[in-house]
Amino acid sequence: MRRVVVTGLGAITPLGVGIRRTWTRLLASECGIVSLADVQPKSRWHEIPSTVAGTVPLGSKDEGRWQPLDWIGKGDERRMAKFSQYAIAATEMALADAGWRPQKQEDLEMTGVCLGSGIGNFEEVYNTSVAYEQGGYKKVSPLFVPKLLINLAAGHISMKYGLQGPNHAVTTACTTGAHAIGDASRFIAFGDANVMVAGGSESCIHPLALAGFARSRSLVTAYNDDPLSASRPFDRERAGFVIAEGAGVVVLEELEHAKARGADIYAEIRGYGCSGDAHHVTAPREDGAGAKLAMKKALQNAGLRPSEVDYINAHATSTPLGDAAENAAITSLMLGQEGFSKASDVAVSSTKGAVGHLLGAAGAIEAIFSILAVKENMLPPTLNLHNQDDSFKCNYIPLTAQEKTVNVALSNSFGFGGTNASLAFSKYE
Ligand SMILES: *[C@@H]1O[C@H](CO)[C@@H](O)[C@H](O)[C@H]1NC(C)=O
Ligand SMILES: *[C@@H]1O[C@H](CO)[C@@H](O)[C@H](O)[C@H]1NC(C)=O
Repeated sequence: MRRVVVTGLGAITPLGVGIRRTWTRLLASECGIVSLADVQPKSRWHEIPSTVAGTVPLGSKDEGRWQPLDWIGKGDERRMAKFSQYAIAATEMALADAGWRPQKQEDLEMTGVCLGSGIGNFEEVYNTSVAYEQGGYKKVSPLFVPKLLINLAAGHISMKYGLQGPNHAVTTACTTGAHAIGDASRFIAFGDANVMVAGGSESCIHPLALAGFARSRSLVTAYNDDPLSASRPFDRERAGFVIAEGAGVVVLEELEHAKARGADIYAEIRGYGCSGDAHHVTAPREDGAGAKLAMKKALQNAGLRPSEVDYINAHATSTPLGDAAENAAITSLMLGQEGFSKASDVAVSSTKGAVGHLLGAAGAIEAIFSILAVKENMLPPTLNLHNQDDSFKCNYIPLTAQEKTVNVALSNSFGFGGTNASLAFSKYE
């Protein structure tokens, strides 16, 4: 089987624009979650029980902030949904980081894109529905459908860079980013491509989206006055997830291809495991069986034993049930394995305390954090973890980052519908 390595990273998160800015702030225990209470239209936000979110900070690129015209022209700004704009910008960063600018036809044909979104362009659907209801057919823009389709981010990337390899878009709710990276690695392993741009993008912070998630009782409602404390994975006072936006993109490359051009290698993608809970639309199985199966399959696929895992980036979204189920899955997979006589030997953190839940982009951004943990031997912290549940006995990297040699890291992602995926990364030397 052809081996696949990571040679480029790009990200836009509530901690800033650019992976360096995000990672530095993450390791410094900074938090990107803010209040939406003063955002217009205030009347709409005020009836929604959750008014905190991880929004991408606005401003210039030089300050690590977002303004679309730093990345795309005015015409494209009008033509592209925001999740596509984020995806284009994160791709530009990742390709620049990888130093990959294919020009030859054979290279263009062997470079592809696999990038999805969980929800896509919510605001466009909302605005067009309202306009159509009031003004009818003539109020529907010719850009409506192209701005709506989830695969258009991948489409725009291929058009901008001339990439003619596989062009694919995953949409599996909050597992999207992980599936996109996992599927892209298989395209390379099976010889469909030598290089893949892969990841997820999301931007749906709109009153209607929050209303929907609040109705399904997934969002935190208890911390509207204290946004920095709202996302608290594994903490006793955790009370639901915080919605967030952004994009994560990696450049994956066949090992010999990367070596031949002297590319810097961050890590190797070693395993990819997927499973379905076959249980419930939104609730996990209490014992975490689906999550455990995904991790087990990723390790089997990688040819690694649980005892070789040095760090797990948990999906843990700060919901009472989800975090407990994942904790059960991790504990049952790892405990009793050689080197893990006690749960505190297992290092797990959830970076959602700092950035919130980026939905379709979460798996991609968290894969990037796992890759950086492998590359730099730093474990990013779980913010706001002051009191863990009595039954939670692992080392959750509470509050501050920790140094540890990380040869192997797992990144977990779970989504509504009961879809679970786990990615395994290891050092490449
Ligand atoms: C939707 O409508 C609101 C209110 O008119 C406007 O501020 C916003 O920019 C529109 N969004 C899109 C994507 O067109
Ligand atoms: C697997 O996916 C489901 C989707 O509903 C998710 O809620 C759950 O957390 C995952 N499984 C477990 C046991 O963690």
